[in-house]
Amino acid sequence: MEMIIFDTQQELDAYAAELFVGIVKEKPDAVLGLATGSTPIGIYDKIVELHKQNNVSFKDVTTFNLDEYVGIKPDNDQSYAYYMKQHLFSHIDIPENQIHLPNGMASDVELESNAYDAMLEARPVDIQLLGLGHNGHIGFNEPDVNLSGGTHVVKLKEETREANARFFDSMDEVPEYAITMGVGSILKANTIVLAVRGADKAEIVKEALTGPITTNVPASLLQTHARVIVLLDREAGRMLS
Ligand code: GLP
Repeated sequence: MEMIIFDTQQELDAYAAELFVGIVKEKPDAVLGLATGSTPIGIYDKIVELHKQNNVSFKDVTTFNLDEYVGIKPDNDQSYAYYMKQHLFSHIDIPENQIHLPNGMASDVELESNAYDAMLEARPVDIQLLGLGHNGHIGFNEPDVNLSGGTHVVKLKEETREANARFFDSMDEVPEYAITMGVGSILKANTIVLAVRGADKAEIVKEALTGPITTNVPASLLQTHARVIVLLDREAGRMLS
């Protein structure tokens, strides 16, 4: 596991963006695994900047997002589909049919999950961006005695709903369920970039990266992957070493 601790958020964002843009330059039809939350926003801003400055084209790129809320329409500004459009897709030249997010409005979620996994099988992810939940979740894979390998619907923990309530008008509006890629699918990516910032994540960063590998800390399973690049700001990395 490679780990870099950055002095500033800007440096972390620039480094992560270069990793993604670097892959696209090398392999114009790369498959990118993407994440939401507040951490990736600066990374996406930087990718957009690099796209505009260096003429890097995303016209042959395919993307898969980790997760989506159940019951929120893609045009709702709380959906992850909306977030991705706002922060990345509307600023780059990627064709819409090459963008994939799990459909949180699917009437048959099992069918939707299987279809998502089939697409991931056909187009394996070259580089996957991940954030980290306070309880160690990745995507929306919450701590549990068992973890699912493939895409599935998950009931969100109260602590996750509370953490994400800041994006909603009230706690009641925070969805109770989400559809997420499973840990098994996440671990199939060729390279995984875990980006974490903030003092409030320092403890879980330490647990996930140096603690026992356990389904109670889903991110700890990243320790089993051959190519994980961990990008931290000083605060998130303060309990390491
Ligand atoms: C959500 C997302 C995760 C993300 C996490 C942390 O729960 N489903 O993929 O990693 O939030 O987000 P933040 O970066 O806002 O702390």
